[in-house]
Amino acid sequence: MIKGNNIVTGVGSYLPERVVTNDELARKIDTSDEWIKERSGIRQRHIAAEGEYTSDLGVAAARRAIEDANMSVNDLDLIIVATTTPDLTFPSTASIIQEKLEMRHGAAFDIQAVCSGFIYALHIADSMLRAGPYKNALVIGAETFSRILDWEDRSTCVLFGDGAGAMVLSTANDSDSGIIANFIRSDGRYCDLLYVDGGPSRTQSVGHVRMVGNQVFRRAVKDIAIAMKECAAIAGIEPKDIDWFVPHQANQRILDGVGRQLGLTSEQIISTVAHHANTSAASVPLAFDVAMRDGRIKRGDLVMLEAFGGGFTWGATLLRF
Ligand code: COA
Repeated sequence: MIKGNNIVTGVGSYLPERVVTNDELARKIDTSDEWIKERSGIRQRHIAAEGEYTSDLGVAAARRAIEDANMSVNDLDLIIVATTTPDLTFPSTASIIQEKLEMRHGAAFDIQAVCSGFIYALHIADSMLRAGPYKNALVIGAETFSRILDWEDRSTCVLFGDGAGAMVLSTANDSDSGIIANFIRSDGRYCDLLYVDGGPSRTQSVGHVRMVGNQVFRRAVKDIAIAMKECAAIAGIEPKDIDWFVPHQANQRILDGVGRQLGLTSEQIISTVAHHANTSAASVPLAFDVAMRDGRIKRGDLVMLEAFGGGFTWGATLLRF
């Protein structure tokens, strides 16, 4: 058995109550359930309520992950939040979550790698736990992406949703489980293909998501497949040797394309895109939690996580659960 190191001791997720179907969107903008389903696989998305913030979604997912780990907030040393939709420009959403959890010790900070944020955050947590002196890191992906969508731009607004997912990552001596390999990449040449047209320094505003969808699509399939091969190669295996593939949930056609390139069966691919749409940094831990709770992902399984997003950024994580 391949040896791991830091282990995922708890997983949790949270989705806002309100569900918005494709048909509901089609009553407001020039689109249709048929177009959205055919091009992306998306049927519905969850949207945060007024007054419900990224930190609220993140804290709800975090509490479930901490409970799943049989831990209390006192056991945590670190909170790392991956988000593109922070409550405020500062302080970090991680600091706000630390306060909501009444955690009076440790360190909390945000990282920004858009839809790849959770993979980046997991790599950072894994490295910090290996370096010490930390024992337990709470890693959260949380987004209220609906707040940065242009609801009149049908080419983007139909594709995203809100949600949060979290994992507790813990040091372990002599465990057969845990994170085996991390692989992250970025290429700033593609900033113009997927971005937000506002920010504190340039416009003193938040801005809206802009995307050249078909070009993003092509790069995503190619780069995700490379990331998975590279990550598997670090562990000396092939992507098809994994039990489960938990991808970033952007588009069912991307998942199918990557699956075909790597020889994965559709049963190996965890897909929640139909129900959650693209929840950016939240999508990977959300999908993991769904598949763990419905009994597909079990302790001892070999799982590969993967994400791709603005920047471009992309990456993969191989772990034995
Ligand atoms: N409803 C109906 N028609 C729409 C539409 C909508 N919501 N959005 C766009 N269209 C139209 C376009 O205007 C275009 O019309 P035209 O041919 O008359 O100009 C047509 O549909 C095709 O557009 P195109 O962009 O070529 O479609 P596509 O097959 O590439 O699918 C995406 C569009 C966005 C679904 C697809 O490109 C995609 O998923 N890209 C990756 C997005 C992604 O994953 N982003 C996040 C990465 S983290």
